Amino acid sequence: MASVVCTGVVTADLVFRLPVPVDAPVKYRATDSALTAGGCALNAAAAVARLGGAAHLAGSVGADALGDLVCAEMAAEGVATGLVARVAGVPTARSAVLVGPGGERTIANHRDPRLFAAAPVLPAPFSFDAALADTRWPEGGAAVLAAARAAGRPAVLDAENPVREASGALRAASHVAFSELGLADWAGEGDPAAALERAARDLGIWVCVTRGPAPVLVHDGAALFEVPVFAVTAVDTLGAGDVWHGAFALFLAEGFAPLAAVRRANAVAALKSSAFGGRSALPDRDQLDRFLKEHA
Ligand SMILES: Nc1ncnc2c1ncn2[C@@H]1O[C@H](COP(=O)(O)OP(=O)(O)OP(=O)(O)O)[C@@H](O)[C@H]1O
Ligand SMILES: [Mg+2]
Repeated sequence: MASVVCTGVVTADLVFRLPVPVDAPVKYRATDSALTAGGCALNAAAAVARLGGAAHLAGSVGADALGDLVCAEMAAEGVATGLVARVAGVPTARSAVLVGPGGERTIANHRDPRLFAAAPVLPAPFSFDAALADTRWPEGGAAVLAAARAAGRPAVLDAENPVREASGALRAASHVAFSELGLADWAGEGDPAAALERAARDLGIWVCVTRGPAPVLVHDGAALFEVPVFAVTAVDTLGAGDVWHGAFALFLAEGFAPLAAVRRANAVAALKSSAFGGRSALPDRDQLDRFLKEHA
C-alpha cells in the first residue's frame, strides 16, 4: 500500500445546496445541507484513504468542537491524524459553502494565521511514498515537499491562488498542478498553454493546470499534452480539485506515469462531483476501476 502525506489547510465546512445561482444579497432557501470536515489537505487525504492508500494528514486545528469533528471524521475515513496539531485558544478554520444548481461552489473561508505558526515536524528519515502540499500553508508545504524531494519521492504542489506567496513550495516541488486562477496568479492573464510552457521552463519540472470541466493541460518540459476530463452531471464540485490532487499524488506514489495519473485523477474528481455532500461520492478502488473500464 502506497503512503501519501497531505499537508495544508483543514477546515470544517457548512455546505448548502441551492436551487438557484448565487448572484444577489438576498435570503436563499437551501434544498440540502451538510456539516463536514473539508479543506484542501483533508479532502486530498480522504481521497487517498478511500482509494486504498495510507493517508497521513499534516495540518492544524483548534482544540475546539470543530477540531473534534474534523478528527472524528478523519478517523472514520481511516486517515492518520498523528501529524495534526491541536492549537489551544485558536478556532478551527471554517468555511461557508453555497453549491449552485450546476454544482458550482461559492466559498467564504476564515483561517486564523496562528494555526500555521509552526511547520509540521515529520518523522526523519522521510518515510512516505509521496508528499502533497497546498499553498495555504507555504512554510509547512515547502518543508514537507523538500523532505520528499530529498528522499527521491514525488513532491506534488496544489498551486491554487495565491501562488506567489508559496515560492518556497514551488521550488521544492517535483510536480506542480496549478488551478486556473493559480496559473494566472503566477503567470498573469493570458493563454494558459503558453503560461504552462513558461512554468515548465522556469521551474524546470513537470507542470499541469486543471480547468474544471475543461481538459487538463500538461507540460513535461518537452511537450504540451491535453488530457480530457470525464463528462458527468456535476452536482457538487466542492473539493473536486482537492481530491484530484490527493489521487494524483497516490497514483504517482504507486508508480503510474504522470499522464496516466492525471487521467485516473480526472476520474476520481468526476465521480466525487456527481453527488452532493462533501466526500459522499468519493470512489473506492473498485468503483474507480469500474468507471475507468466503462469509459475506456
Ligand atoms: N464539472 C466537472 N465535470 C467533470 N470533472 C470536473 C468538473 N469540475 C472539476 N472536475 C475535475 O476536477 C479537476 C479539478 O477541478 P478544478 O480545476 O475546478 O479544481 P480547483 O480549481 O482546484 O478547484 P477546487 O480545489 O476548489 O475544487 C478537473 O481537472 C476535473 O478533472
Ligand atoms: Mg483546488
